[in-house]
Amino acid sequence: MPLKNRKLIVTGGPTREWLDPVRYISNASSGKMGVAIADESFARGADTVFIHGPMQEAVLAGREYRCVSIESTSDLLEAVKAELAPNAVLIMAAAPADYAPEEKSDKKIKKNSDELVIRLKKNPDILKNVAAIRKNNFSLSTMFVVGFAAETHNIEAYALNKLEEKNLDLICVNDVSRAGAGFNVDTNIITIFTRNRERLELPLLSKQDAAGRILDCVEKGLEKLPQNYLE
Ligand code: CTP
Repeated sequence: MPLKNRKLIVTGGPTREWLDPVRYISNASSGKMGVAIADESFARGADTVFIHGPMQEAVLAGREYRCVSIESTSDLLEAVKAELAPNAVLIMAAAPADYAPEEKSDKKIKKNSDELVIRLKKNPDILKNVAAIRKNNFSLSTMFVVGFAAETHNIEAYALNKLEEKNLDLICVNDVSRAGAGFNVDTNIITIFTRNRERLELPLLSKQDAAGRILDCVEKGLEKLPQNYLE
């Protein structure tokens, strides 16, 4: 089995960008899809590490694989970079905040005015950073990278664009406008696209079953890789 003993890095959950000591910008990701992939990866014998943003402790209770907790998108980038390794699989199921406040106030912002304008700056894109690192480091070119995309319209076009731009081997797309496929539910409806434009439409599945189908595709993809040094 191509995943047995292989390093598998999974990210999950939201990230959090603080505005002041009591407020932050984040999103509704529960981290459940990431945990389901990490569970399935561990069950298949992979050397699993789950890097996750703030999430309910109960969702992670009793896991026997390594979990690394992070807060901001920049933290997530550093944690992912620290784990990259030849032949590893990276599955980016996290929903990193795309923007962060330009300034963080060290004191609570008081409601002194009727309007409050907050300037945001773009966060680093983790997958684009990984693509650039792999381009300049031959030993990491043997990695297999999977992205997710949450879309509400033009699903296929946006997904294929992300696959290209982020140099992915697979992309798992969910149409978050459909019932059962949004954030914070226990099911998902995913379509998987490969680098060769193969397309697999999965039905409404539990996140556990969806994770299994995604890892089946990863295993198939790994078998096809020309340079696969792991025995
Ligand atoms: N992602 C990332 N770094 C970010 C934001 C997203 O690596 N700063 C990853 C996600 O983990 C996911 C993929 O990129 O695997 C696509 O995420 P998505 O939120 O759908 O798209 P964005 O690239 O953020 O683009 P947009 O929000 O414009 O759709």
